[in-house]
Amino acid sequence: MSSASEQRREQLVEVFNEAAVCEKCPLSATRTRVVFGSGNADADLMFVGEAPGAEEDRQGLPFVGRAGALLTELLEGIDLRREDVFIANVLKCRPPGNRDPQPIEIESCEPYLARQVQLIEPRVVCTLGNFATKLLTRSQTGITKVRGAPQVHSLGGRTVFVMPLFHPAAALRTPSVADTLRSDFAKLPELLKQAPPDAEPAATPEPSNAEPQSSQAEPALEADQLGLFG
Ligand code: URA
Repeated sequence: MSSASEQRREQLVEVFNEAAVCEKCPLSATRTRVVFGSGNADADLMFVGEAPGAEEDRQGLPFVGRAGALLTELLEGIDLRREDVFIANVLKCRPPGNRDPQPIEIESCEPYLARQVQLIEPRVVCTLGNFATKLLTRSQTGITKVRGAPQVHSLGGRTVFVMPLFHPAAALRTPSVADTLRSDFAKLPELLKQAPPDAEPAATPEPSNAEPQSSQAEPALEADQLGLFG
């Protein structure tokens, strides 16, 4: 591992340690574990979902339930393993009963995702589902309209391709969504080969008929024990 990679990994562990004891919002009272994210600290490709579910909250790892199994399968379909990418969520703690994230929770958690993007330096950030897509593209346009077409955005102080994708949980419910998700995944290898984008274009005004926004602690040693960051 190069010293730059090692430094990046160490800094990510520092952010992990901070998040692991976070009490910035009320979710700290109801979570079992903080789900910081896992994967390759040097990844070119990052996935961002909405928030941990029950199984993720139990294990402290993102996308480990049925939707996670589909995500793993979709990655394998483009010759990638989970260890090659970094998988995270907008919220690092589970909202009780998987309810929609609240503004205070989003605001409190945003710096963690920003730091993750800043340190990992991905070329492509895939947003999984409506919630992560609207938040990271700063647009109220729904996932059905924007999926499968890369956008250029500034995240964590870096300019990246943001690729909106259907959420794997939606694909489990609807076979046609699964087909679309698979064909959108197939676009990722080419996108990853493209030169990193220049600065984010100036924002265009939102259409007036845009949808409202809705959703569809461990110390450093433990981060290593969990094998969170490759
Ligand atoms: N859904 C998400 O958005 N994130 C997870 O980690 C699991 C399910």
